[in-house]
Amino acid sequence: MKILVTGGLGYIGSHVTTLLLDKDFEVLCLDNLENSSESVLDGINKITGKSPIFENIDIRDKSSLRILLDEHVDIKGVIHFAAYKAVEESHKIPLDYYQNNVVGLLNLLELISTKRIPLIFSSSCTVYGQAKKLPIKESTPYQPPTSPYGYTKQVGEQIIKHTCKAYPNFSAISLRYFNPIGAHPTSKIGENPRGVPQNLVPFLTQTVMGKHSVLKVFGSNYNTPDGTCIRDYIHVMDLAQAHIDSLDFLISNEKSIYETFNVGTGSGVSVLELIKTFEKVTGEEVPFEYNEPRTGDTEAAFADIKKIEKKIGWKSKYSLEEALKNAWEWEKNQ
Ligand code: NAD
Ligand code: WQD
Repeated sequence: MKILVTGGLGYIGSHVTTLLLDKDFEVLCLDNLENSSESVLDGINKITGKSPIFENIDIRDKSSLRILLDEHVDIKGVIHFAAYKAVEESHKIPLDYYQNNVVGLLNLLELISTKRIPLIFSSSCTVYGQAKKLPIKESTPYQPPTSPYGYTKQVGEQIIKHTCKAYPNFSAISLRYFNPIGAHPTSKIGENPRGVPQNLVPFLTQTVMGKHSVLKVFGSNYNTPDGTCIRDYIHVMDLAQAHIDSLDFLISNEKSIYETFNVGTGSGVSVLELIKTFEKVTGEEVPFEYNEPRTGDTEAAFADIKKIEKKIGWKSKYSLEEALKNAWEWEKNQ
């Protein structure tokens, strides 16, 4: 069975591709390599002994996308990762974010919505903003996002929901990821941030490697047990598995479906706890200092995962320790 993975050579897409190949799906990876490289294909091949079909195409280029879908009439599902994802950058170039994340999605939907090809969409916990109640349930209403990036995910979800309503043969799931971290346990693929990473774990591992002098912990006076922010860190392998299980659910279901699911562990971890856990599992010391809070950060966010457990049968398996160990091994391997 052939699955189209847009952004398939990126961080999360490459892990999903390995699991799909392991499960004997045929994978068509589309990526314009703006935030990845063809060398990811070597890593995927070393892990699985197989290769996806690769096409260097930009999802904003609707005619190329149309030609691709006409060539591959046997596509049975689409997992859509291709997007920009840097929160801070989205304030500087909002139009690029809307163009890539929203127009790219529209192009894809125009081509698949009439064809009974189900879609899995990469959404984000960013759609919740600072939720008033924890853990965060899927039914929690949207809060105004703190960035243009966040708006692209809210808008993306709404566009998909309305498309499912208008085309009864079209089904989709929006997966709202919490904080993906870690790398493939073989260290052959992982996260490859462009420039200085904004996210905690890649910045931390690069700091321990000596690429930065110190990790700044943003805020120490939050209303949390140790004063630092709380997040729900999910191993990228668990996150990848959630896509496979969601795809199975969509493909095996005859009815038209639109669902949103949280993908997290269900547990909150503070920045300080994460640093201490990293030190414990790696034996490395993390040079860090407290800094002012980062604008737009929410104090605490972690997922209620009952819905995805009940409907899809997915649950995270990897521990925080494993995720941090794999992140560190990947960093050292580069
Ligand atoms: P990534 O940047 O590593 O992967 C995205 C891939 O898409 C890259 O390989 C990039 O080259 C490609 N791409 C971007 N624009 C494209 C275009 N116009 N045409 C074709 N390819 C294009 O990002 P990721 O961390 O793997 O994230 C994947 C998805 O998950 C994104 O939609 C992101 O918004 C979402 N998400 C990520 C996180 C996170 O923390 N990593 C959290 C929540 C949601
Ligand atoms: C985690 C915690 C920081 C860096 C972002 C996006 C979200 C989603 C996931 C895409 C926070 C603290 C960080 C540092 C620090 N992505 N921190 N020092 O902000 O929870 O979520 O990625 O959809 O939309 O907003 O992740 O990894 O940046 O931060 O102290 O150098 O680490 O304050 O508490 P965040 P993060």
